[in-house]
Amino acid sequence: MTEAPMLDPGFIAQLLPFDPFDPAFLADPYPVYAQIREKGPVTRTPLGLWAVTGHEACSAVLRDQRFGWGDGATVADHFRTEADGTVVRPFIFSDPPEHTRIRALVSKAFAARQVDRMRTTAQQVVRELIETARAEAGGGPIDLMSAVAHPLPGRMQNALLDVPAEHAARFDELSGDIARGLDPSFLLGPEEIAKRDNARAELYRYIGELAEQRRAEPGTDLISELVAVEEGGDTLTPEELEVTCTLLLSAGYATTVNLIGNGMLALLRRPNQRDWLRARPGQVAAAVEEMLRFDTPVQMISRVALAEAEIAGQTIQPGEQVMLMIGAASHDPDVYDDPDELRLDRPAGRNLGFGLGIHFCVGAPLARLTAQAAVSALAALDLEPVTDSPARVPNIIMRGLAELPVRVTA
Ligand code: HEM
Repeated sequence: MTEAPMLDPGFIAQLLPFDPFDPAFLADPYPVYAQIREKGPVTRTPLGLWAVTGHEACSAVLRDQRFGWGDGATVADHFRTEADGTVVRPFIFSDPPEHTRIRALVSKAFAARQVDRMRTTAQQVVRELIETARAEAGGGPIDLMSAVAHPLPGRMQNALLDVPAEHAARFDELSGDIARGLDPSFLLGPEEIAKRDNARAELYRYIGELAEQRRAEPGTDLISELVAVEEGGDTLTPEELEVTCTLLLSAGYATTVNLIGNGMLALLRRPNQRDWLRARPGQVAAAVEEMLRFDTPVQMISRVALAEAEIAGQTIQPGEQVMLMIGAASHDPDVYDDPDELRLDRPAGRNLGFGLGIHFCVGAPLARLTAQAAVSALAALDLEPVTDSPARVPNIIMRGLAELPVRVTA
Protein backbone atom coordinates (compact mmCIF):
# COMPACT_ATOMS: atom_id res chain seq x y z
CA MET A 1 0.00 0.00 0.00
CA THR A 2 2.86 2.41 0.71
CA GLU A 3 4.05 2.00 -2.89
CA ALA A 4 0.69 2.99 -4.34
CA PRO A 5 0.58 6.17 -6.43
CA MET A 6 0.04 9.10 -4.08
CA LEU A 7 -3.17 11.08 -4.40
CA ASP A 8 -4.32 9.01 -7.41
CA PRO A 9 -8.12 9.43 -7.16
CA GLY A 10 -8.75 6.15 -9.02
CA PHE A 11 -6.65 4.20 -6.53
CA ILE A 12 -8.18 5.97 -3.53
CA ALA A 13 -11.74 5.36 -4.79
CA GLN A 14 -10.97 1.62 -4.85
CA LEU A 15 -9.25 1.68 -1.48
CA LEU A 16 -11.59 3.74 0.70
CA PRO A 17 -15.34 3.38 1.14
CA PHE A 18 -15.80 7.19 0.84
CA ASP A 19 -14.38 10.03 -1.27
CA PRO A 20 -11.89 11.89 0.95
CA PHE A 21 -11.73 14.79 -1.56
CA ASP A 22 -15.47 15.48 -1.62
CA PRO A 23 -16.10 18.86 0.08
CA ALA A 24 -19.51 17.63 1.31
CA PHE A 25 -17.79 14.69 3.03
CA LEU A 26 -15.25 17.00 4.68
CA ALA A 27 -18.00 19.33 5.86
CA ASP A 28 -20.12 16.51 7.31
CA PRO A 29 -18.88 12.92 7.04
CA TYR A 30 -21.54 11.44 9.34
CA PRO A 31 -24.30 10.83 6.74
CA VAL A 32 -21.69 9.08 4.55
CA TYR A 33 -20.58 6.94 7.50
CA ALA A 34 -24.23 6.03 8.14
CA GLN A 35 -24.59 4.82 4.54
CA ILE A 36 -21.47 2.65 4.86
CA ARG A 37 -22.69 1.28 8.21
CA GLU A 38 -26.03 0.32 6.63
CA LYS A 39 -24.12 -2.27 4.57
CA GLY A 40 -22.93 -3.85 7.83
CA PRO A 41 -20.62 -3.00 10.74
CA VAL A 42 -17.64 -4.58 8.92
CA THR A 43 -17.35 -4.23 5.12
CA ARG A 44 -14.56 -4.65 2.57
CA THR A 45 -13.51 -2.16 -0.13
CA PRO A 46 -12.56 -3.32 -3.66
CA LEU A 47 -8.84 -3.11 -2.79
CA GLY A 48 -9.39 -5.29 0.26
CA LEU A 49 -9.34 -2.77 3.12
CA TRP A 50 -11.75 -3.68 5.91
CA ALA A 51 -13.89 -0.74 7.06
CA VAL A 52 -15.33 -1.13 10.57
CA THR A 53 -18.15 1.32 11.27
CA GLY A 54 -20.03 -0.38 14.13
CA HIS A 55 -19.23 0.62 17.72
CA GLU A 56 -19.27 -2.96 19.00
CA ALA A 57 -17.09 -4.21 16.14
CA CYS A 58 -14.56 -1.35 16.58
CA SER A 59 -14.39 -2.05 20.31
CA ALA A 60 -13.91 -5.78 19.67
CA VAL A 61 -10.95 -5.16 17.31
CA LEU A 62 -9.32 -2.66 19.67
CA ARG A 63 -9.47 -5.19 22.53
CA ASP A 64 -8.30 -8.12 20.41
CA GLN A 65 -4.59 -9.04 20.43
CA ARG A 66 -5.02 -10.69 17.02
CA PHE A 67 -4.92 -7.14 15.65
CA GLY A 68 -1.88 -4.89 15.87
CA TRP A 69 0.87 -3.51 13.64
CA GLY A 70 2.92 -6.60 12.77
CA ASP A 71 5.98 -5.63 10.71
CA GLY A 72 4.57 -2.10 10.57
CA ALA A 73 4.89 -1.84 6.77
CA THR A 74 1.99 0.62 6.56
CA VAL A 75 3.46 3.01 9.13
CA ALA A 76 7.18 2.43 8.56
CA ASP A 77 7.67 6.05 7.51
CA HIS A 78 7.05 6.97 11.16
CA PHE A 79 9.96 4.78 12.33
CA ARG A 80 13.47 6.00 13.05
CA THR A 81 16.38 4.02 11.59
CA GLU A 82 19.78 4.42 13.23
CA ALA A 83 23.10 4.41 11.34
CA ASP A 84 23.66 0.80 12.47
CA GLY A 85 20.27 -0.26 11.05
CA THR A 86 18.46 -0.44 14.42
CA VAL A 87 14.84 0.61 14.03
CA VAL A 88 13.09 2.55 16.79
CA ARG A 89 9.29 2.48 16.50
CA PRO A 90 7.05 4.98 18.27
CA PHE A 91 5.15 2.83 20.78
CA ILE A 92 1.78 3.82 19.28
CA PHE A 93 2.83 1.70 16.26
CA SER A 94 4.31 -1.29 18.10
CA ASP A 95 2.86 -4.52 19.46
CA PRO A 96 3.48 -6.34 22.73
CA PRO A 97 5.98 -7.07 24.20
CA GLU A 98 7.82 -3.99 22.85
CA HIS A 99 4.71 -1.82 23.28
CA THR A 100 4.13 -3.08 26.84
CA ARG A 101 7.69 -2.26 27.87
CA ILE A 102 7.80 1.33 26.57
CA ARG A 103 4.21 2.09 27.57
CA ALA A 104 4.93 0.98 31.16
CA LEU A 105 7.92 3.32 31.38
CA VAL A 106 6.03 6.24 29.83
CA SER A 107 2.96 5.72 32.04
CA LYS A 108 5.18 5.77 35.11
CA ALA A 109 6.87 9.03 34.05
CA PHE A 110 3.61 10.62 32.84
CA ALA A 111 1.99 10.04 36.20
CA ALA A 112 -0.96 11.89 37.69
CA ARG A 113 1.23 14.50 39.38
CA GLN A 114 2.68 15.54 35.99
CA VAL A 115 -0.85 16.17 34.79
CA ASP A 116 -2.30 17.70 37.94
CA ARG A 117 0.31 20.43 37.99
CA MET A 118 -0.98 21.44 34.53
CA ARG A 119 -4.58 22.32 35.48
CA THR A 120 -3.90 25.82 36.76
CA THR A 121 -1.48 26.36 33.86
CA ALA A 122 -4.31 25.55 31.41
CA GLN A 123 -6.73 27.95 33.10
CA GLN A 124 -4.17 30.76 33.24
CA VAL A 125 -3.09 30.30 29.63
CA VAL A 126 -6.70 30.29 28.38
CA ARG A 127 -7.47 33.50 30.28
CA GLU A 128 -4.37 35.17 28.86
CA LEU A 129 -5.08 34.02 25.31
CA ILE A 130 -8.65 35.28 25.43
CA GLU A 131 -7.63 38.65 26.89
CA THR A 132 -4.91 39.11 24.25
CA ALA A 133 -7.25 38.13 21.42
CA ARG A 134 -9.98 40.51 22.60
CA ALA A 135 -7.54 43.37 23.00
CA GLU A 136 -6.06 42.76 19.53
CA ALA A 137 -9.45 42.34 17.85
CA GLY A 138 -10.67 45.68 19.23
CA GLY A 139 -14.32 44.63 18.91
CA GLY A 140 -13.81 42.87 15.56
CA PRO A 141 -14.08 39.11 14.99
CA ILE A 142 -11.72 36.65 16.68
CA ASP A 143 -10.57 33.40 15.11
CA LEU A 144 -10.89 30.90 17.95
CA MET A 145 -8.55 28.46 16.18
CA SER A 146 -5.58 30.81 15.97
CA ALA A 147 -6.43 32.69 19.17
CA VAL A 148 -7.06 29.73 21.53
CA ALA A 149 -7.33 26.23 20.04
CA HIS A 150 -3.83 26.23 18.48
CA PRO A 151 -1.74 28.11 21.00
CA LEU A 152 -3.20 26.45 24.10
CA PRO A 153 -2.01 22.84 23.48
CA GLY A 154 1.32 24.25 22.26
CA ARG A 155 1.75 26.19 25.50
CA MET A 156 0.69 23.12 27.51
CA GLN A 157 3.27 20.93 25.77
CA ASN A 158 5.97 23.50 26.30
CA ALA A 159 5.07 23.62 29.99
CA LEU A 160 4.95 19.81 30.21
CA LEU A 161 8.45 19.47 28.73
CA ASP A 162 9.65 22.76 30.24
CA VAL A 163 10.84 24.03 26.84
CA PRO A 164 12.96 27.18 27.29
CA ALA A 165 10.96 30.28 26.34
CA GLU A 166 13.29 31.21 23.47
CA HIS A 167 12.59 27.90 21.71
CA ALA A 168 8.86 27.68 22.42
CA ALA A 169 7.68 29.20 19.13
CA ARG A 170 9.90 26.88 17.04
CA PHE A 171 8.70 23.90 19.06
CA ASP A 172 5.06 24.79 18.29
CA GLU A 173 5.85 25.12 14.61
CA LEU A 174 7.52 21.72 14.50
CA SER A 175 4.63 20.05 16.35
CA GLY A 176 2.26 21.54 13.76
CA ASP A 177 4.37 20.25 10.86
CA ILE A 178 4.37 16.69 12.14
CA ALA A 179 0.67 16.74 12.98
CA ARG A 180 -0.42 16.78 9.33
CA GLY A 181 1.93 13.85 8.78
CA LEU A 182 -0.42 11.68 10.83
CA ASP A 183 -2.52 11.15 7.71
CA PRO A 184 -1.23 8.16 5.74
CA SER A 185 1.57 9.02 3.31
CA PHE A 186 -0.55 8.05 0.29
CA LEU A 187 -2.82 11.01 1.07
CA LEU A 188 0.03 13.51 1.45
CA GLY A 189 1.97 15.46 -1.14
CA PRO A 190 5.80 15.24 -1.29
CA GLU A 191 6.14 18.68 0.32
CA GLU A 192 4.06 17.70 3.33
CA ILE A 193 6.06 14.49 3.72
CA ALA A 194 9.37 16.36 3.55
CA LYS A 195 8.11 18.95 6.06
CA ARG A 196 7.01 16.20 8.46
CA ASP A 197 10.29 14.32 8.17
CA ASN A 198 12.45 17.44 8.62
CA ALA A 199 10.38 18.56 11.60
CA ARG A 200 10.75 15.13 13.17
CA ALA A 201 14.54 15.10 12.69
CA GLU A 202 14.82 18.58 14.23
CA LEU A 203 12.69 17.57 17.22
CA TYR A 204 14.78 14.43 17.82
CA ARG A 205 17.91 16.58 17.94
CA TYR A 206 16.38 19.22 20.16
CA ILE A 207 14.83 16.73 22.60
CA GLY A 208 18.17 14.90 22.74
CA GLU A 209 19.84 18.15 23.82
CA LEU A 210 17.17 18.85 26.44
CA ALA A 211 17.49 15.28 27.76
CA GLU A 212 21.25 15.71 28.18
CA GLN A 213 20.69 18.92 30.14
CA ARG A 214 18.01 17.31 32.33
CA ARG A 215 20.18 14.27 32.97
CA ALA A 216 22.77 16.65 34.44
CA GLU A 217 20.25 18.94 36.15
CA PRO A 218 16.88 17.20 36.65
CA GLY A 219 13.72 19.30 36.91
CA THR A 220 10.08 18.35 37.51
CA ASP A 221 9.18 18.25 33.79
CA LEU A 222 8.27 15.17 31.71
CA ILE A 223 11.67 14.95 29.98
CA SER A 224 13.40 14.80 33.39
CA GLU A 225 10.94 12.06 34.44
CA LEU A 226 11.51 10.10 31.21
CA VAL A 227 15.29 10.35 31.59
CA ALA A 228 15.06 9.01 35.14
CA VAL A 229 12.27 6.46 34.77
CA GLU A 230 13.19 2.91 35.59
CA GLU A 231 11.12 -0.24 35.94
CA GLY A 232 12.72 -3.51 37.07
CA GLY A 233 16.15 -2.24 35.96
CA ASP A 234 14.85 -1.21 32.53
CA THR A 235 15.16 2.36 31.22
CA LEU A 236 14.55 4.18 27.93
CA THR A 237 17.56 4.44 25.61
CA PRO A 238 18.35 8.01 24.43
CA GLU A 239 16.88 7.16 20.99
CA GLU A 240 13.72 5.71 22.54
CA LEU A 241 13.35 8.84 24.65
CA GLU A 242 13.63 11.12 21.60
CA VAL A 243 11.17 9.05 19.58
CA THR A 244 8.76 8.82 22.54
CA CYS A 245 8.80 12.56 23.28
CA THR A 246 8.26 13.34 19.60
CA LEU A 247 5.34 10.92 19.60
CA LEU A 248 3.83 12.63 22.65
CA LEU A 249 4.13 15.98 20.88
CA SER A 250 2.63 14.81 17.62
CA ALA A 251 -0.11 12.72 19.21
CA GLY A 252 -1.09 15.43 21.66
CA TYR A 253 -1.09 18.58 19.57
CA ALA A 254 -3.53 18.45 16.65
CA THR A 255 -5.86 16.16 18.59
CA THR A 256 -6.32 18.68 21.39
CA VAL A 257 -6.50 21.63 18.95
CA ASN A 258 -9.31 19.91 17.10
CA LEU A 259 -11.23 18.74 20.14
CA ILE A 260 -11.43 22.39 21.23
CA GLY A 261 -12.28 23.64 17.71
CA ASN A 262 -14.80 20.94 16.78
CA GLY A 263 -16.34 21.07 20.25
CA MET A 264 -16.73 24.85 20.26
CA LEU A 265 -18.24 24.87 16.77
CA ALA A 266 -20.81 22.29 17.88
CA LEU A 267 -21.59 24.35 20.98
CA LEU A 268 -21.83 27.70 19.18
CA ARG A 269 -24.28 26.22 16.70
CA ARG A 270 -26.56 25.18 19.57
CA PRO A 271 -27.30 28.06 21.95
CA ASN A 272 -29.57 25.82 24.05
CA GLN A 273 -26.62 23.52 24.82
CA ARG A 274 -24.40 26.50 25.55
CA ASP A 275 -27.02 27.80 27.99
CA TRP A 276 -27.24 24.35 29.60
CA LEU A 277 -23.48 24.40 30.23
CA ARG A 278 -23.48 27.98 31.45
CA ALA A 279 -26.11 27.08 34.02
CA ARG A 280 -23.99 24.05 35.09
CA PRO A 281 -20.29 24.99 34.86
CA GLY A 282 -19.51 21.95 37.04
CA GLN A 283 -20.61 19.70 34.16
CA VAL A 284 -17.80 20.76 31.85
CA ALA A 285 -16.16 17.32 32.01
CA ALA A 286 -19.35 15.66 30.73
CA ALA A 287 -19.67 18.36 28.06
CA VAL A 288 -16.15 17.71 26.77
CA GLU A 289 -16.79 13.94 26.64
CA GLU A 290 -19.86 14.55 24.50
CA MET A 291 -17.92 16.93 22.24
CA LEU A 292 -15.31 14.19 21.83
CA ARG A 293 -18.02 11.77 20.74
CA PHE A 294 -19.98 14.18 18.60
CA ASP A 295 -17.20 15.37 16.25
CA THR A 296 -14.17 13.36 17.26
CA PRO A 297 -10.72 14.57 16.17
CA VAL A 298 -9.32 11.08 15.48
CA GLN A 299 -11.79 9.77 12.93
CA MET A 300 -9.95 6.55 12.13
CA ILE A 301 -7.55 4.10 13.74
CA SER A 302 -5.70 1.46 11.71
CA ARG A 303 -4.76 -2.09 12.54
CA VAL A 304 -3.45 -5.14 10.71
CA ALA A 305 -4.78 -8.66 11.38
CA LEU A 306 -1.94 -10.68 12.92
CA ALA A 307 -3.99 -13.91 12.84
CA GLU A 308 -7.28 -14.99 11.31
CA ALA A 309 -10.13 -13.39 13.20
CA GLU A 310 -13.88 -13.26 12.85
CA ILE A 311 -15.47 -9.89 13.61
CA ALA A 312 -19.23 -9.33 13.23
CA GLY A 313 -19.49 -12.43 11.05
CA GLN A 314 -16.67 -11.43 8.67
CA THR A 315 -13.47 -13.46 8.50
CA ILE A 316 -10.37 -11.27 8.36
CA GLN A 317 -7.18 -12.95 7.16
CA PRO A 318 -3.67 -12.40 8.57
CA GLY A 319 -1.99 -9.40 6.94
CA GLU A 320 -5.26 -7.71 5.96
CA GLN A 321 -5.70 -4.10 6.95
CA VAL A 322 -8.53 -2.86 9.07
CA MET A 323 -9.71 0.75 9.31
CA LEU A 324 -11.61 1.39 12.53
CA MET A 325 -13.90 4.27 11.70
CA ILE A 326 -14.18 5.86 15.14
CA GLY A 327 -16.18 8.80 13.77
CA ALA A 328 -18.75 6.34 12.44
CA ALA A 329 -18.76 4.20 15.60
CA SER A 330 -19.34 7.34 17.69
CA HIS A 331 -22.62 7.89 15.83
CA ASP A 332 -23.76 4.26 15.91
CA PRO A 333 -27.52 4.28 16.63
CA ASP A 334 -27.22 0.85 18.29
CA VAL A 335 -25.26 2.52 21.11
CA TYR A 336 -26.38 6.16 21.15
CA ASP A 337 -29.91 7.58 21.12
CA ASP A 338 -30.16 10.37 18.53
CA PRO A 339 -26.46 9.99 17.69
CA ASP A 340 -26.41 13.07 15.46
CA GLU A 341 -27.54 15.33 18.31
CA LEU A 342 -25.12 17.07 20.65
CA ARG A 343 -26.45 16.32 24.13
CA LEU A 344 -24.11 17.53 26.82
CA ASP A 345 -26.08 15.62 29.46
CA ARG A 346 -25.65 12.28 27.64
CA PRO A 347 -24.75 9.49 30.08
CA ALA A 348 -20.99 8.91 30.10
CA GLY A 349 -19.26 5.81 28.87
CA ARG A 350 -18.16 3.79 25.85
CA ASN A 351 -16.55 6.80 24.18
CA LEU A 352 -14.00 5.62 21.59
CA GLY A 353 -12.50 9.08 21.00
CA PHE A 354 -9.36 8.18 22.97
CA GLY A 355 -9.29 4.61 21.62
CA LEU A 356 -9.63 1.48 23.77
CA GLY A 357 -7.52 -1.42 24.97
CA ILE A 358 -3.74 -1.49 25.21
CA HIS A 359 -3.22 1.65 23.07
CA PHE A 360 -5.81 3.75 24.96
CA CYS A 361 -4.60 7.36 24.84
CA VAL A 362 -1.85 7.91 27.37
CA GLY A 363 -2.49 11.69 27.21
CA ALA A 364 -6.25 11.53 27.86
CA PRO A 365 -6.09 13.18 31.33
CA LEU A 366 -4.02 16.06 29.95
CA ALA A 367 -6.22 16.42 26.86
CA ARG A 368 -9.34 16.46 29.02
CA LEU A 369 -8.13 19.12 31.42
CA THR A 370 -6.85 21.29 28.56
CA ALA A 371 -10.12 21.11 26.62
CA GLN A 372 -12.15 21.63 29.81
CA ALA A 373 -10.24 24.82 30.59
CA ALA A 374 -10.86 26.16 27.06
CA VAL A 375 -14.53 25.18 26.90
CA SER A 376 -15.29 26.57 30.38
CA ALA A 377 -13.78 29.95 29.59
CA LEU A 378 -15.23 30.22 26.08
CA ALA A 379 -18.73 29.07 27.06
CA ALA A 380 -18.85 31.88 29.60
CA LEU A 381 -18.46 34.48 26.83
CA ASP A 382 -21.23 35.70 24.50
CA LEU A 383 -19.89 34.41 21.20
CA GLU A 384 -21.58 34.28 17.82
CA PRO A 385 -20.12 32.39 14.85
CA VAL A 386 -19.35 34.70 11.93
CA THR A 387 -20.04 31.98 9.36
CA ASP A 388 -22.28 28.89 9.29
CA SER A 389 -19.62 26.72 7.68
CA PRO A 390 -16.08 27.62 8.70
CA ALA A 391 -13.35 26.07 6.51
CA ARG A 392 -12.07 22.62 7.48
CA VAL A 393 -8.52 21.35 7.13
CA PRO A 394 -8.49 18.70 4.37
CA ASN A 395 -7.34 15.83 6.64
CA ILE A 396 -9.50 12.75 6.93
CA ILE A 397 -7.94 11.04 9.92
CA MET A 398 -7.49 14.16 12.03
CA ARG A 399 -10.72 16.09 11.62
CA GLY A 400 -10.52 19.79 12.36
CA LEU A 401 -11.23 23.38 11.42
CA ALA A 402 -8.92 25.75 9.55
CA GLU A 403 -10.62 28.70 11.28
CA LEU A 404 -13.51 29.48 13.62
CA PRO A 405 -14.27 33.19 13.40
CA VAL A 406 -16.60 34.51 16.11
CA ARG A 407 -17.88 37.84 17.32
CA VAL A 408 -17.89 38.68 21.01
CA THR A 409 -21.31 40.19 21.49
CA ALA A 410 -21.15 41.19 25.15
C1 HEM B 1 -3.22 7.12 21.67
C2 HEM B 1 -6.78 10.26 20.76
C3 HEM B 1 -4.42 13.70 23.23
C4 HEM B 1 -0.60 10.81 23.45
C5 HEM B 1 -4.40 7.67 21.25
C6 HEM B 1 -5.43 6.94 20.54
C7 HEM B 1 -6.42 7.83 20.27
C8 HEM B 1 -6.03 9.11 20.82
C9 HEM B 1 -7.71 7.56 19.53
C10 HEM B 1 -5.43 5.46 20.19
C11 HEM B 1 -4.61 5.19 18.95
C12 HEM B 1 -4.61 3.72 18.56
O1 HEM B 1 -5.27 2.88 19.21
O2 HEM B 1 -3.96 3.39 17.56
C13 HEM B 1 -6.44 11.45 21.35
C14 HEM B 1 -7.29 12.63 21.37
C15 HEM B 1 -6.63 13.59 22.09
C16 HEM B 1 -5.36 13.03 22.49
C17 HEM B 1 -8.66 12.72 20.70
C18 HEM B 1 -7.04 15.00 22.42
C19 HEM B 1 -8.26 15.41 22.44
C20 HEM B 1 -3.20 13.20 23.55
C21 HEM B 1 -2.20 13.91 24.30
C22 HEM B 1 -1.10 13.09 24.33
C23 HEM B 1 -1.43 11.87 23.63
C24 HEM B 1 -2.36 15.30 24.91
C25 HEM B 1 0.24 13.30 24.96
C26 HEM B 1 0.65 14.34 25.59
C27 HEM B 1 -0.99 9.58 22.96
C28 HEM B 1 -0.09 8.45 22.85
C29 HEM B 1 -0.85 7.37 22.36
C30 HEM B 1 -2.19 7.88 22.15
C31 HEM B 1 1.37 8.42 23.21
C32 HEM B 1 -0.37 5.95 22.09
C33 HEM B 1 -0.67 5.07 23.26
C34 HEM B 1 -0.26 3.64 23.02
O3 HEM B 1 0.01 3.25 21.88
O4 HEM B 1 -0.20 2.89 23.99
N1 HEM B 1 -4.79 8.98 21.42
N2 HEM B 1 -5.29 11.74 22.03
N3 HEM B 1 -2.72 11.97 23.18
N4 HEM B 1 -2.24 9.21 22.54
FE1 HEM B 1 -3.79 10.44 22.39
